Amino acid sequence: MVIVLIGYMGSGKSSVGRKLAEMHSMTFVDMDDFIEEKEGKKIREIFADKGEIYFRKAESRYLEDLMKNSDNMVIALGGGTPCYGNNMDYIQQSTDKVVYLRASIEELTARLKEEKEHRPLIKHLSDTELEEFIRKHLFERNFFYLKAPYSVLVDGRPVETIADEITSRVV
Ligand code: S3P
Repeated sequence: MVIVLIGYMGSGKSSVGRKLAEMHSMTFVDMDDFIEEKEGKKIREIFADKGEIYFRKAESRYLEDLMKNSDNMVIALGGGTPCYGNNMDYIQQSTDKVVYLRASIEELTARLKEEKEHRPLIKHLSDTELEEFIRKHLFERNFFYLKAPYSVLVDGRPVETIADEITSRVV
């Protein structure tokens, strides 16, 4: 079984994924960590040195590598992974257990205010600009995220509760 978690930055893909994998004795893979390991650089360094286009191409390539060799695995994708090229189609051809962790703009803004620094897409934004950016970006990205067959609300809910809900609906 392979479960793929998608959703905006700060929606909790990594922490929920880690919990879910632990609950079911599955392997957890965080796509950003996977890319950093393969490239030998932090995501923010890849963006700074080689630019976003390079990152998006590399991300699509690594997605295929990862999905081809996945089994008994929970995968937390990067926030943008489903939204480029034909990645979302590829993900859905690889597994029917794709879960969108859905958060409100208010929740995402509050969470991301605290952790802008290592995120290249938002680190230059002021707190007021951040909310507007998320509103527009999420509107565009929901086109892809909402293709997932499962969607779970995360606002104000502990990681364990979210992992339990995914278990009851998907596992
Ligand atoms: C991105 C999200 C990040 C990371 C990169 C780009 C995005 O992953 O892949 O900074 O485009 O939303 P997280 O969602 O894990 O922060």
